[in-house]
Amino acid sequence: MSSHHAQTRHLLERILSIEIVRVTERAAVAAARLRGLGNEKDADQAAVDAMRRELNKLPIEGTVVIGEGERDEAPMLFIGEAVGDGKGRKVDIAVDPLEGTTLCAKDMPGAIATMAMAQSGTLLNAPDVYMDKIAIGPGYAHGVVDLDAAPGDNINALAKAKGVRPADITALVLDRPRHADLIAAVRKAGASVRFISDGDIAGVIHTAEPDVTGIDIYLGIGGAPEGVLAATALACIGGQLQGRLVLDSEEKRARARQMGIADPRKKYELKDMVRGDSVFAATGVTDGSLLRGVRFRDGLIETETVVMRSATGTVRWIRAEHRQVDKFERG
Ligand code: FBP
Repeated sequence: MSSHHAQTRHLLERILSIEIVRVTERAAVAAARLRGLGNEKDADQAAVDAMRRELNKLPIEGTVVIGEGERDEAPMLFIGEAVGDGKGRKVDIAVDPLEGTTLCAKDMPGAIATMAMAQSGTLLNAPDVYMDKIAIGPGYAHGVVDLDAAPGDNINALAKAKGVRPADITALVLDRPRHADLIAAVRKAGASVRFISDGDIAGVIHTAEPDVTGIDIYLGIGGAPEGVLAATALACIGGQLQGRLVLDSEEKRARARQMGIADPRKKYELKDMVRGDSVFAATGVTDGSLLRGVRFRDGLIETETVVMRSATGTVRWIRAEHRQVDKFERG
């Protein structure tokens, strides 16, 4: 590639990293209109519709590789869907238009609208199944914790590497019955467990700043799409993440095979999930530990977004005041 082309590509990436903020902003506002109404499906659909509309305005030839289900079951933004105006760069798109549908429907903290964009062919194409995950923040030797090690061993290794006692370690875990043994093992090692009811993308991101969040490690089984999205964020801010798809039926293994996953037991490192430059953005829907939720004021909508770029590691916090409120209604 000529240096002129490389420069143009670089510039486009920089512009796109701001453009995607509009996409998550719109999705967040659409979902926020339905906050607290007890209807997960409608809130999710509103976020999907808004996100799709905005994505299709971008100068990209995008393919959704992480999306809202697979073709037949999801009305929009399914895996394999083409997005963008079709005229720009080829990119992979990962979306979770409303992460924490229940949090939004119940107006509880932590619902976000989120997406990532990466060079074409560089994001893990994962089906909409569970993923077993382990994540820690930056500054540790590679492999200090491991998905295949016993939870107690991971806690001890992390405490040692951090120079603290296991009792000073806090693990974040989704509050689910399936985690009973994991939770018991973490506590037995002396560490404390902080629960979240939903929203493990933010959960993984929180390990990157233990001084601020008090969270040293994320452990347990959540969604695979959420795992890949969290990986795109950690690729920007640093930290380690390993994941393994939970392919516990022949049907799921067949779906994974169709997406090019030959080894159903493969342990993915962060660099296997995100193999090239990527951009991650998230806008708060409800107030949360990562982002403020959407505020509707007289003639004004306020949003808060974080956008990160892996090429430079830049993290931008964008507090926006939108005055053309009717635009959000019309799409
Ligand atoms: P939704 O927005 O699809 O409801 O996902 C929320 C979430 O909590 C994710 O953050 C997490 O990865 C996943 O659900 C866990 O799945 P489950 O609720 O089935 O345990």
